[in-house]
Amino acid sequence: MSADKRGMHGIWGNRWTFILAATGSAVGLGNIWKFPYMAGENGGGAFVLMYLLCILSVGIPVMMAEVLLGRKGRMSPINTMREMTNKENAPHAFRGIGWMGAVAGFFILSFYSVIAGWTLAYVGKMASGEFSSATAAVTGDVFGQLLGDPWMLTGLHTIFILMTGAVIARGVKHGLENSVRILMPLLFVMLVLLLGYSMTTPGFSQGWSFLFNFQTAALTSDALVSALGHSFFTLSLGMGAIMAYGAYMPANASLGKTILAVGVLDTLVALTAGLVIFPIVFSYGLEPDSGPGLLFQTLPIAFGNMPGGAMIGTLFFLLVLIAAWSSAISIAEPAVAWAVERGWGRLRSTIIVCGFAWLLGLGTVMSFSDWSGKQIFVTETVSHAVNAELVAEEEAATEAEVVSTKFHWYADVNELKAAAAEGFVVKTEGKTFFNVLDFLTTNLMMPLGGLLIAIFVGWFMTRESVAAEARVKSPVLFNLWRFMVRYISPVAIFFIFIEGLA
Ligand code: PHE
Ligand code: NA
Repeated sequence: MSADKRGMHGIWGNRWTFILAATGSAVGLGNIWKFPYMAGENGGGAFVLMYLLCILSVGIPVMMAEVLLGRKGRMSPINTMREMTNKENAPHAFRGIGWMGAVAGFFILSFYSVIAGWTLAYVGKMASGEFSSATAAVTGDVFGQLLGDPWMLTGLHTIFILMTGAVIARGVKHGLENSVRILMPLLFVMLVLLLGYSMTTPGFSQGWSFLFNFQTAALTSDALVSALGHSFFTLSLGMGAIMAYGAYMPANASLGKTILAVGVLDTLVALTAGLVIFPIVFSYGLEPDSGPGLLFQTLPIAFGNMPGGAMIGTLFFLLVLIAAWSSAISIAEPAVAWAVERGWGRLRSTIIVCGFAWLLGLGTVMSFSDWSGKQIFVTETVSHAVNAELVAEEEAATEAEVVSTKFHWYADVNELKAAAAEGFVVKTEGKTFFNVLDFLTTNLMMPLGGLLIAIFVGWFMTRESVAAEARVKSPVLFNLWRFMVRYISPVAIFFIFIEGLA
């Protein structure tokens, strides 16, 4: 039965098409939106260092393993893993790679589409000149208003899901190649131009050292878990997207250089985005840890104040939108390919997958707007309000002493804050609906998928069958890679998990 499914979704024209498609999947909101704000929330350099180490020691080796599995199976990740576990006599638990990946795909697509909707809105805002000579206060207001409008967010989310579905329904092969071939390099050129702009801002050196001053002392175990998770998210790893694309890879292409190219490109885009955003953050006195709004509140200041900024800004957000689009397609592909293999037809499968993701996305819409206060796992800290006179005497800032800390499984943080007694401030830390989905997928499901992939390829497949599929020419590089997949990657993922739980 499985024989006629193998290769039924088509094969990329050549190795380059695979590189383009995989780069299209990898380069997306993860690089331009998420990486900067995560670095900002997790102390900058310490996070960046961990992220780079995770990419090298876990991301790239696991990516090779995942593509290898895909190409060997030539089916959707669910059916590929079913066949591979049978063939290699491995425990059925490894089939979880396929199933968990499909579920993670729904979760990720649901929030990815909502954020991509923001970029859609910003294309329009840029084009209309809304940001001309904008200050930080203006861009903050504009973003706040967008988030406060759930109908608008839903509309944009709907448009983006429809755009994504339109490509998937036609089959990934068509529709994707051209957009990636021309638009990805253009996006990179735009980022480098913006880098030129940020270098002229007074905050450049501060932005640089924020990202590249590797103070390992600042490293928390939360940041470590986030760095590992993000290296999976940004490389589209551990949930089947890159396995599905590997299934369409020509049989004779070598995996080594191909994967390395994708990993390096993805990392360069992220670092460049960070080097554009943080100098602007510091030049305009913004906070680096402002979270998901970071990109949308910083770049419009730059575009609003540079000559020709409206046009450049429009083009920039258009490119980000396209990068998000080519990623979203790959997020949905594993589930759609599986449904197609079940005989549901490409169109029907697309409608079902995108429909569910759309519905779930409404939760993310609400969590940025009307439900932003509704959170779980809330830590509430009450402290004395900092007294302005004491600040003048340079005492209070450090001495705003904490009166109490409380934990709530669930709370409305707006109510907690409103209930603060006079002279006290309430700070909270909890997870919204979006935060929960993001955490579940990025910090748990994707690294767990990656762990299983590394163990499967490293320990359940023979050296010979792995070598035959990988086609890495240099024996030294092959051995190095296999060593990483067998020992370094699984051990690193395992310890970061343990560290994160403790
Ligand atoms: N790698 C994509 C990005 O950085 C997101 C993604 C995650 C794509 C999972 C596919 C699978 O934006
Ligand atoms: Na990425």
